[in-house]
Amino acid sequence: MRVLLTGGAGFIGSHTALKLLEAGHEAISLDNLSNSSAESLKRVSQITGRPAPLCVGDCTVEADVERVFREYAPIDAVIHFAGLKAVGESVSKPLDYYQNNLDSTFTLLRVMQKYDCRTVVFSSSATVYGTNQEMPLREDFPTGCTNPYGWTKWMNERVLTDCAKAMGLNVVLLRYFNPIGAHESGMIGEDPSGIPNNLMPFICQVASGKLERLNVFGNDYPTPDGTGVRDYIHVCDLAEGHLAALEYAADHPGTEIVNLGTGIGYSVLDIVHTFEKANGLTLPYTIAPRRPGDIAVCYADPSKAEKLLGWHARRSLEDMCRDSWNWQKNNPDGYGK
Ligand code: WQD
Repeated sequence: MRVLLTGGAGFIGSHTALKLLEAGHEAISLDNLSNSSAESLKRVSQITGRPAPLCVGDCTVEADVERVFREYAPIDAVIHFAGLKAVGESVSKPLDYYQNNLDSTFTLLRVMQKYDCRTVVFSSSATVYGTNQEMPLREDFPTGCTNPYGWTKWMNERVLTDCAKAMGLNVVLLRYFNPIGAHESGMIGEDPSGIPNNLMPFICQVASGKLERLNVFGNDYPTPDGTGVRDYIHVCDLAEGHLAALEYAADHPGTEIVNLGTGIGYSVLDIVHTFEKANGLTLPYTIAPRRPGDIAVCYADPSKAEKLLGWHARRSLEDMCRDSWNWQKNNPDGYGK
């Protein structure tokens, strides 16, 4: 299939482009490069030996989206990654988040309708499950968000579900848990701008000496070692999950919601100690106060992905820690701006 990846130059987008190309599909990316680098797709092309074209443009601009559908006609399916994704920033800039993350979906659906493209896989998030839920999280659990970023994902799920019914679309909504790691080549990886908010990129910059020490946000949670527990998933497993979702969606009208997680919860200190062991180094850290808005425990029930898509995560926490560090070591300044 010829697949459009909105936000395809990003961390998860570039890893997904790689897996699509390796599976024999075509991957065309549309990205405004506001939080990504064109270098990522150049390297995807180097790794696979196949073209990974990038159209620089904005998913909220109809002319930009239409240009891709016209120049690469026929687009058979879309994987919609493009969106602002910093939880904290969404609290201080809600209008930017609602406008960008919803307009991009409205614009995309309009152009898909015009070009009779009916298959879409959407990058959603476990953040839609909100708080106070029993674990592990199942797709039929109630949802409700605690920040504007999460609500944009929730609203996009709603829009896509209703449009699937009215427009005869094939939709899969993928709820990611905590993607970390990098392709084993060390050529592509996570390249956050500024000081990282998320745990693994922060750890990698401490390990490289770019940052002094890790602040562990709270050790008084009701968890085995008191630190926060999350479902970390290797970004290559996540990318393979997108491939499985795409191939399923192509033949199935309607909407399916699928968790992409491992089903295993690891604490912050589990990550720290596994990272140290996998890479033979010591990570300086201090216990700091809890981060506002954090929940104690979050991990997936991944059984629906196995049953429906025939997919499950294969890579271990050691793989995730080793591959994250391999990317950081080889690219101390990311893709370079
Ligand atoms: C993980 C754990 C922190 C940094 C976020 C988004 C979510 C999704 C994934 C998009 C927590 C602890 C972190 C640090 C720490 N993104 N931590 N020190 O918050 O689970 O999820 O990213 O869909 O929507 O909310 O990920 O990596 O920020 O935190 O102790 O410097 O690491 O308290 O327990 P989170 P995270």
